[in-house]
Amino acid sequence: MTREEFTVLRDFIYEKTGICFTETKKYLLESRLTNRLNELGLSSFEDYYFHLKYGAEKARAELVNLFDVVTTNETSFFRNQPQLDAFKAILQKSCMNGSGPPAPLRIWSAACSTGEEPYTLSIILTELMESQRITIPFTIFATDISSKVLESAREAVFGQYSIRNIDASVRGKYFTEDNNMFRLNDSVKKTVKIDFMNLIDDDAYRMYRQMDFIFCRNVLIYFDEKMKKKVIDNMYECTKPKGYLTIGHAESLHNISRAFKPLVFPGTIAYQKG
Ligand SMILES: C[S@@+](CC[C@H](N)C(=O)[O-])C[C@H]1O[C@@H](n2cnc3c(N)ncnc32)[C@H](O)[C@@H]1O
Repeated sequence: MTREEFTVLRDFIYEKTGICFTETKKYLLESRLTNRLNELGLSSFEDYYFHLKYGAEKARAELVNLFDVVTTNETSFFRNQPQLDAFKAILQKSCMNGSGPPAPLRIWSAACSTGEEPYTLSIILTELMESQRITIPFTIFATDISSKVLESAREAVFGQYSIRNIDASVRGKYFTEDNNMFRLNDSVKKTVKIDFMNLIDDDAYRMYRQMDFIFCRNVLIYFDEKMKKKVIDNMYECTKPKGYLTIGHAESLHNISRAFKPLVFPGTIAYQKG
């Protein structure tokens, strides 16, 4: 990949996804796109760029593949326990305090990858309701830009690595083991609505208003400051008054937004809309 090819492809990817490939990631981008060139029978990255930019109908189809290869989809069940404990603590305090019938909850896992995050939230909520003998209607919206991971999330069959942090009793209750793979029960699957959503698309946020909780974890790291601000401003609009935002444990809203109020929980911070 020449420097010029890198520059035009990097800018194109940024414009379409918000993901920044810095100079140091040139080889990473090259290796990720090489398969696409081979599949399409193209002989240079410049041809690939022209295919994406001016290929009409075919280019639109190729964008789906591009989104799959430029994204990093690392995730697992019960990722970052302190954040999940904070989620539980908030739920107990705000919805399970016995003051009247609880209102239906709306929860959004934005950038859900293969589904482990939204399914974890559903299991936590289900377990909590069971222990408190209470029913709260809830919907979990799960979105991502990569169609490949969304397909996998819909299938909901997971490997050992993905489920390694789940307690054996919870695993036995919600999964069926088959050939060392773990199929999630329909009772959990049906609580999660899975859809494509590109976080750089301002109009797409209209579908995700009035959220009680937004989990937007481990995706801001791929964006620059301008893109982070845009995403967080949109998330603010999508959160109910007094609703909560959780970002990745290594991410911060410093210099990004002062609109959310940081609340300290053991080992983590949750952000609340004032
Ligand atoms: C590292 S995974 C995080 C998964 C999960 N939130 C977690 O923390 O375990 C990052 C996800 O962000 C998605 N992503 C990247 N850019 C995006 C965009 N512009 N819109 C929506 N999703 C995006 C990727 O496809 C990927 O699945």
